[in-house]
Amino acid sequence: MRLNSLVAAAWLASTAAAVAVNPLPAPRSITWGSSGPISVPDVLVPNLPNNQIVVEGWYRAWTKIVELRWVPQATEAPIASYPPFPTASPAPSSSAVPSASKAKRRQSHIDTVSVKVADLTADLQEDVDESYTIDIKESSSTIQISAQTIWGALHAFTTLQQIIISNGHGLIIEQPVHIEDSPIYAWRGIMLDTGRNFISVPKIKEQIDGLALAKLNVLHWHLDDTQSWPVEMNVFPEMTKDAYSPWQRFSHNDIKGVVAYARARGVRVLPEVDMPGHSASGWQQVDPSIVACGNSWWSNDVWAAHTAVEPNPGQLDIINNKTYGVVEKVYNELSTLFTDNYFHVGSDELQPNCYNFSSYVTNWFAQDSSRTYNDLVQYWVDHAFPIFKKIKNRKLVVWEDIILNDPHAPNVPTKDLLVQSWNNGLTNIANLTARGYDVIVSSSDFLYLDCGFGGFVTNDPRYDVMVNPDADNANFNYGGNGGSWCAPYKTWQRIYDYDFTANLTDAQAKHVKGSIAPLWSEQVDDTVVSSKVWPRAAALAELTWSGNKDPKTGLKRTTTLTQRLLNFREYLVANGIGATPLVPRYCLNHPHACDLYYDQTAIH
Ligand SMILES: *[C@@H]1O[C@H](CO)[C@@H](O)[C@H](O)[C@H]1NC(C)=O
Ligand SMILES: *[C@@H]1O[C@H](CO)[C@@H](O)[C@H](O)[C@H]1NC(C)=O
Ligand SMILES: *[C@@H]1O[C@H](CO)[C@@H](O)[C@H](O)[C@H]1NC(C)=O
Ligand SMILES: *[C@@H]1O[C@H](CO)[C@@H](O)[C@H](O)[C@H]1NC(C)=O
Repeated sequence: MRLNSLVAAAWLASTAAAVAVNPLPAPRSITWGSSGPISVPDVLVPNLPNNQIVVEGWYRAWTKIVELRWVPQATEAPIASYPPFPTASPAPSSSAVPSASKAKRRQSHIDTVSVKVADLTADLQEDVDESYTIDIKESSSTIQISAQTIWGALHAFTTLQQIIISNGHGLIIEQPVHIEDSPIYAWRGIMLDTGRNFISVPKIKEQIDGLALAKLNVLHWHLDDTQSWPVEMNVFPEMTKDAYSPWQRFSHNDIKGVVAYARARGVRVLPEVDMPGHSASGWQQVDPSIVACGNSWWSNDVWAAHTAVEPNPGQLDIINNKTYGVVEKVYNELSTLFTDNYFHVGSDELQPNCYNFSSYVTNWFAQDSSRTYNDLVQYWVDHAFPIFKKIKNRKLVVWEDIILNDPHAPNVPTKDLLVQSWNNGLTNIANLTARGYDVIVSSSDFLYLDCGFGGFVTNDPRYDVMVNPDADNANFNYGGNGGSWCAPYKTWQRIYDYDFTANLTDAQAKHVKGSIAPLWSEQVDDTVVSSKVWPRAAALAELTWSGNKDPKTGLKRTTTLTQRLLNFREYLVANGIGATPLVPRYCLNHPHACDLYYDQTAIH
């Protein structure tokens, strides 16, 4: 008997809905048996390796299993009695196998978990092995977990959290079960911006909890921006004069605490200090001469003269050589707080007009009339990157602008560099990978989590229109982008359906290392961050872990993600993560009743 029908039988007394386990991200391979679930007591004998991260990870998972007594909230399999879908086909990720031997005596309950880790020392860095297997054999009372590294073991635990469920009374798990799992991509994450608005340490940890449950493994932390500098610095304590308040700062201990919290959950923290663009706050306190155009009008009303793409302006002065001394000290101190081999050094959206306010730059151009803005950006690469690379094992992440924008640096080496692509979707991914750059996909048209909330700039006359013209006459408001440059809002379906390696050669596709969904924080702080990240980031989690296609048919499985994601949203909320609802609860209770197309292959 399949788990959903058995659980339903036990649970129907209290509810009309059938339930089924449906972990997210869908594992690469699950094989369920057909002999029905076995009970799991509240106390198991754990047979764990002597490793603090594994032991703590196990008890964290086990405590949640026992505390939450999770009952899946949205079943993937259609409910027999609900039209229009009869129970025709089994759930795609599962295949019933005959019971191995009916003659073998079944155990009455699970009593042990055994966790074997081949290599206890592998560090949490890019490309660490995250694979794991979970096995419960038919005649066994042991849950067997094996993993190459402790980080894979942590993923096994979050899978177990979703497949040991309650039947309304005790805990149960389907037996036998065999899971083999590993991610497609090494980089799977979200980006938080604590520069435009502050996000507190507890809220950052809440996001990390969600990342871990979704098997996302990167928190890209955009620490500062022109608007504020929230990071306490020993080398230049004056920088936090540009924090929003004394309470909206990160101490060294705060940062080390976030890094340790993330690491304990298998999440790497990628720090970013955006340079030389997006740089006024903090830097200007150290030495105003290293910031160009900080006091200019950002000039959106005279676009030809703009010094920034959003207020407030400010860019590190590339020619003033005092800049590099300050940058080196700040970068070196921050490098002691983070444990990842990678450091993100920004490099996006340089605005040439800003440098008209710098006498260093204008003199430099005057000295040699052949010099171009591309040469200026190259000067930054040639002078700043050697500083960044001095740290042992250091690799860099940059935004693609420094290679693709006008202006850009003509000569950016491909070695030890990851390029984060955010413009022009597949076009830029194809361009960068063809040129041998390793790429993190963050295409704004698909993955920006902040889009679609209108404009934040004030005194904007484009809203002062008393009509809703028809679509043929689309203006800024109706039919337009409503002031959000990357409108509309990216729904989970938009994210999940993104085939970001489409039309790449195999050689190009190998250069795609994963994907990060950014959440810029012009309109985000503690009050809304979780609802903007979740559960949409979980759609990216499955896309980057096991893909958006059914491994057997090769067809898009967006329609089967639906119930998995709706269930996972409820699970996030149960775990204290403020994920937004995606549908009326009716849709969750009535699988596929809210589909636009009756045809389940409409997305393929
Ligand atoms: C900035 O300087 C460049 C080079 O002299 C010039 O072409 C450009 O028009 C200036 N921009 C503004 C806004 O004055
Ligand atoms: C700093 O810049 C000046 C020109 O403004 C140059 O003469 C000097 O060599 C530079 N110093 C260093 C250490 O690069
Ligand atoms: C990449 O884009 C640039 C323009 O931004 C273009 O000059 C170049 O030819 C493109 N290269 C490839 C390989 O597509
Ligand atoms: C892939 O290339 C084909 C042939 O040029 C084109 O028709 C198709 O639109 C491309 N797909 C994507 C997703 O760009």
